[in-house]
Amino acid sequence: MRYQFPEGFKIGATGAGWQMEGEFGKKAGHEHFPHLMYQMDKENWYQGVGPEVASDHYRRFQQDIPLFRQAGILQYRFNLDWTRFIDDFEACTVNEQEAEHYSKYIDCLLENGIEPVLCLEHWELPKALYERYDGYASRHTVDLYAEYARQAFRRYGDRVKMWFCFNEPIVIPQLCFLDGSWWPKLHEPKRAFLWMHHKVVATARAIETFRQLGREGEIGTILNPSYVVPRDAANPGDAYAAKVADAFYWGSFVDPAVKGQYPALYLELLEQNGCLFDWTQEDERLLKANTVDVLGVNYYQPMRVKQKEEGADRSGPFHPNWYFDGYDMPGKRMNPFRGWEIYPKSLYDIGKRIQREYGNIKWIVSESGMGVQNEQKYKDANGVIQDDYRIDFIAEHLAWLSKAVQEGSNCHGYWLFASIDNCSPYNAFKNRYGLVEVDREHGLERRLKKSAAWYKQTAESNSFCFDEVREP
Ligand code: BG6
Repeated sequence: MRYQFPEGFKIGATGAGWQMEGEFGKKAGHEHFPHLMYQMDKENWYQGVGPEVASDHYRRFQQDIPLFRQAGILQYRFNLDWTRFIDDFEACTVNEQEAEHYSKYIDCLLENGIEPVLCLEHWELPKALYERYDGYASRHTVDLYAEYARQAFRRYGDRVKMWFCFNEPIVIPQLCFLDGSWWPKLHEPKRAFLWMHHKVVATARAIETFRQLGREGEIGTILNPSYVVPRDAANPGDAYAAKVADAFYWGSFVDPAVKGQYPALYLELLEQNGCLFDWTQEDERLLKANTVDVLGVNYYQPMRVKQKEEGADRSGPFHPNWYFDGYDMPGKRMNPFRGWEIYPKSLYDIGKRIQREYGNIKWIVSESGMGVQNEQKYKDANGVIQDDYRIDFIAEHLAWLSKAVQEGSNCHGYWLFASIDNCSPYNAFKNRYGLVEVDREHGLERRLKKSAAWYKQTAESNSFCFDEVREP
């Protein structure tokens, strides 16, 4: 059947600064947090590769952006790298040369008929602020971030009309300080939740600044809220497990962004477990007064949970999974390369939930995509990667999204991760996500994949054909 999106719905793509640009020409002392993660833990990055060269997009953007347009990208979310744009982190002065680079970047998008969407942080916290203040643990870093945001709004607000404060603000505190999965691999929940809270406050500060400046356009934040699915919703133990997981991995960021307050259960459990951050009246005012215009939702896989096993060990530092276990659902579809479940219906469920519980606020699927290993093996005689699996993946996700939109969900776009192959955290170039291939065997040559032609047709007609979707 044919799916048609309404006018105003835009198909686009994304890419992260540090995962694509490469660290060319950076000033000494201007490294960012992902660079540090790589430097300190190189041996655990796939094949020892990190963000130094990445996709070399910083130097090749004038070649890449026309390819993005050929792949049908109509709206493009990219991000400034704080450590490039700002010259002196304390004084918040702008690095004129780098500011000019981003200005040219925006012009290049516009000249190619692509609407620029600008995000202010995809984890590129300056290493210097991490070392000096423990990053977002400090309110001073929040002040510096708000000043950085002000400089960016001033500089590019003439051409950029859609802004996002952060991409996935939960990820660094969660993976680095709570779960201990990424360097520095710590289990310090109090610190993790403090970082998270200050990133929530920083979001509100940036929104307030944007509005005070009277800039035309919209501002929001990009989250990766987990869509939590209980093993058996009718089982009270499973339902409670899902409620807690939802408070920590959906509500902790979506609620303050859209409703201006945290879920009560989140605060209650943090307090019970000695992890509640300092909370001021000014925070409360800020959050209430500065909710988002638009919400970005990055979605890759659902979070399936079940009741916690009896007698689970709670002797170590607090972790939200004291209240639930992951549920490995038999028969689930998997992307074996990334180890993530493929469950496109979540986009429908997310859309309906936002419609029901969040005032049907404008939202965008700000990341969705499929990372595949060894894509070279799918090349045809002309060297073009025949990524039909990616086309099917996107089409099925779009089909569910379209159903939600038809039923009134206020979704305005779908951005594929990613425009071009790029360097994943830890997995580096193992799994490829792009519509455009980066051929690392041949001087990082670029080539459109088969999916690019399909994507172009879909974006330009705002429609596509796919099977009728049914309840899985
Ligand atoms: C998102 C991030 O969570 O997932 C991206 O915003 C990331 O930075 C993407 O690259 C895909 O995950 P991964 O780990 O396979 O690169």
